[in-house]
Amino acid sequence: MTIPDDNLPDHVRRNREAWDAWAVDYVDNGERSWRLAPGAEKWGNWSIPEADIDLLPADLAGKDTIELGCGTAYVSAWLARRGARPVGIDNSEKQLATARRLQAEHGLDFPLLHGNAETVPYPDATFDLAISEYGASIWADPYRWIPEAARLLRPGGQLIFLVNATILMLCMPDAEEAATNAIQSVNFHLGYGDWIRLLRANGFEIENLVELYPAEGTTAADFPYATNEWARQWPTEEVWIARKR
Ligand SMILES: C[S@@+](CC[C@H](N)C(=O)[O-])C[C@H]1O[C@@H](n2cnc3c(N)ncnc32)[C@H](O)[C@@H]1O
Repeated sequence: MTIPDDNLPDHVRRNREAWDAWAVDYVDNGERSWRLAPGAEKWGNWSIPEADIDLLPADLAGKDTIELGCGTAYVSAWLARRGARPVGIDNSEKQLATARRLQAEHGLDFPLLHGNAETVPYPDATFDLAISEYGASIWADPYRWIPEAARLLRPGGQLIFLVNATILMLCMPDAEEAATNAIQSVNFHLGYGDWIRLLRANGFEIENLVELYPAEGTTAADFPYATNEWARQWPTEEVWIARKR
């Protein structure tokens, strides 16, 4: 289902164009990630095992979940296999086409919406968990998607989102990347104080900030921004875990 919206913000429009173009490059990772069985899930650029970091809530059976910027929707597939009732929303119809094909191939069916995670067409307090792995968490405006996640969650519901680590963003060659990037996409990165104030202002208690470090010698596909040695010294990825009061 595509959510009609004539007033998509400029950054959402630009990111839709970008992600429709890049979707083809994310098929392989989607296929690989959909194949991961419960307990064998892997997170982020360094494929860090869920078994090592326990990001997922222990009891997902019967829980209503929404993945904000689900892409190929493998995280929602993991949640479904652990007993949850997932919904995925993504801004790119091309990414969702891969997700739908993989749903059919794996015999898993859950709603996938084509739209902006900053305005989700579900009533208040519909979900127990909102999750985003490099989805809305970096591609949507935090001052829009965090209030929306707060609205969608039931009291006591959890928000889990994975982003590039702040220190990595500070060390990234921004201008150079922008100059070589033909499609002008827009992504968002806050410092720690701003994240804390934004989450608390929207009724979240911060439970954890998990910094991810790769195992020695592991490689990250298509990730030219840090070596394994660097990423073992300074985190390149961070996961915020917060609970709606
Ligand atoms: C790196 S992918 C992450 C998703 C998933 N973990 C994956 O790798 O397939 C980023 C996704 O965020 C989506 N996205 C960007 N802005 C969005 C927005 N405002 N609302 C919903 N999805 C958005 C993109 O379309 C893209 O599919």
